[in-house]
Parts: sequence; structure tokens; C-alpha cells
Amino acid sequence: MTAPKLVAGNWKMNGRMVHLEEALGIATASAAAGDEVDVLLCPPATLLAPMASALTGSNTFVGGQDCHANQSGAHTGEVSAAMLVDAGASHVILGHSERRRDHHEGSADIAAKVQAAWSEGLVAILCIGETEAERDAGSTLTVLAEQLSASLPEGATPENTVIAYEPVWAIGTGRTPSVAQITEAHAAIRAHVPAGIRLLYGGSVTPQNAAAIFATDNVDGALVGGASLKAEDFTPIIDALK
Ligand code: G3P
Repeated sequence: MTAPKLVAGNWKMNGRMVHLEEALGIATASAAAGDEVDVLLCPPATLLAPMASALTGSNTFVGGQDCHANQSGAHTGEVSAAMLVDAGASHVILGHSERRRDHHEGSADIAAKVQAAWSEGLVAILCIGETEAERDAGSTLTVLAEQLSASLPEGATPENTVIAYEPVWAIGTGRTPSVAQITEAHAAIRAHVPAGIRLLYGGSVTPQNAAAIFATDNVDGALVGGASLKAEDFTPIIDALK
């Protein structure tokens, strides 16, 4: 059986208790989508447990945005995979370009986090993507291959791993790659990962462009930032995947 498509919302550093209302609205869209689409929300760590609790009984998954490579210890400000599970998470985003940029995470750090996530039974959503300079230099596919081989450990399966292709220059910019560029990148990623692993596209996905992106070869869903914050924006994206 092929896995359902997946649409994931990365709330980044947005969302307080009052915004759980949006999560409930998104859960309504998720319920309507049924088994055809998995819907996942990744709120900030402070909202994880309350969101998981608010969504109990729904078919919407809740996930973290990062985890530490260790499960506990003297790491001020950090959250472990075990803590994410404890709070109700089933997935965790790892290697997001904002983490690579703002926290100097390298591929080896990310690989250790993926292992930590797997060891707690979390699905790792591993983000990879080229910068604009790398694309201009014609090295997109090389960068993707390098990031995959260095940050995805042996042992990835369709059950424990999702790959998100997020071109850095498309994140929060309103710019998206052409269908041909997404097709090329996803085909290259597909060739590097075990069969059946879901490949998401991320970067300025909107209700307007979602259907065209989802119709692209080897695109199994999306990782959505800004347009996942409100049910009225995220619902048509979920619907476009049905
Ligand atoms: O992880 C999602 C992401 O980086 C894309 O953000 O706001 O461009 O959809 P956005």
C-alpha cells in the first residue's frame, strides 16, 4: 500500500495558546481529507503539548521543529526527541535551513539528530535545499546529493523518514522554482533515497500554487510555513492534495 500524501505545517516561531483555534480549524480540514492525506502541524515547543491535547481524537499529527542529539542532560534551552514524544509528537523537522543558518548546524549534527529521533520512534522530516548562489553556480544537484549523504544515516525507511526539498531562496520569499526545477530536484532526491520515502516540496507554497506543485512528478506533499498558520489558508492546500 502506498503511504498517503503528507502536508505539514511548520509554524516556526509563531503561535500562542490563542492560536490553537487555527489548529482545530485545520483538524476539520484534515478530517474531511480522510485517509488520502496525512496532515501534520509543527508548532513551537511551547504549544506542542497543548496542541496535541486539543487535537486528541483527530487525525491530525503534531510534530516538533527540532530536537537535540541527546535525550537528556545539561543542554540549557534544548528539547530532546524523548521530550517531543512525551508532549505528543509523532514527527520532527530536522535540518531546516533556518537551523543550519542561525544555529550553524552541519550535516553531521543533523545526522545525529535524525538518529535520536528514530531511536524515540519519531518520523524525521529531513530538510535539504540549495541557496540561490548554489543554484546560480549550477551546483543544485550536487548540493542536494551531498546534504543527503551526509545528513541521512543508514536505516532510513518510508516509515521513519520524509525528505523535504526546500530551496533556501524560495523560503518566505514568494518565489518558487519552476515545475521543471522541482521535477529535476525531486527526481535526483528520489534516486538517492530508499524507495517509498515521501518527498515534500517546501518554499512559498500557497493556496494558489499548491495544485500545480502537487501535480509534479515525485512530489508527495508539502512542508508549508506562512500559509499553515491560518486554517483559511492551509485548508485549500490540504484540499489540493486530495
Ligand atoms: O519549513 C517551511 C518553510 O521553510 C517554507 O516556509 O513560509 O515559505 O512556506 P514558507
